[in-house]
Amino acid sequence: MEIQQEFTLSDELITFIDAWKEKRGNLIMILHRIQQEFGFVPRQVAIELSRRIDVPLAKIYGVLTFYHYFKQKKPGRHTLSVCTGTACYLKGAHGVIQEVENLLGVGIKESTDDGEFSVEAVRCIGCCGLSPVMTIDEEVFGGVKPDDLAEIISRYHGKS
Ligand code: FES
Repeated sequence: MEIQQEFTLSDELITFIDAWKEKRGNLIMILHRIQQEFGFVPRQVAIELSRRIDVPLAKIYGVLTFYHYFKQKKPGRHTLSVCTGTACYLKGAHGVIQEVENLLGVGIKESTDDGEFSVEAVRCIGCCGLSPVMTIDEEVFGGVKPDDLAEIISRYHGKS
């Protein structure tokens, strides 16, 4: 069962929002600042923002969904990214994604219920010679085979 968490605007965030309220491009700037604070943009905060800067909630969600950078769900403690660029795709990225889904029970753009992992697909990360490539946080894994994944992922369980 998912535990509901309270997300409230800090005084510092309110000051920032008030300072940007009337400026051009304010929505993007404010959403960046919110994501910096929470790691994503909680719905509760988006609703409060809508009220504070008098911008319809639908417009805020229009921006959140247009820019992939913004996250609407709390990310896991670790981000597991599978490269789906051409070289990695040709070398079996699809099989890696399938096995990640199989092991973690979640797909691309989802997070595990225990809050440990978020799964992402990324474009070429510049290590094509090592394809297929996957990263967990800042660590790069090359020549990844589906059979290696259980062991790799187990290293990160419970690791902060
Ligand atoms: S295509 Fe995956 S690292 Fe380049």
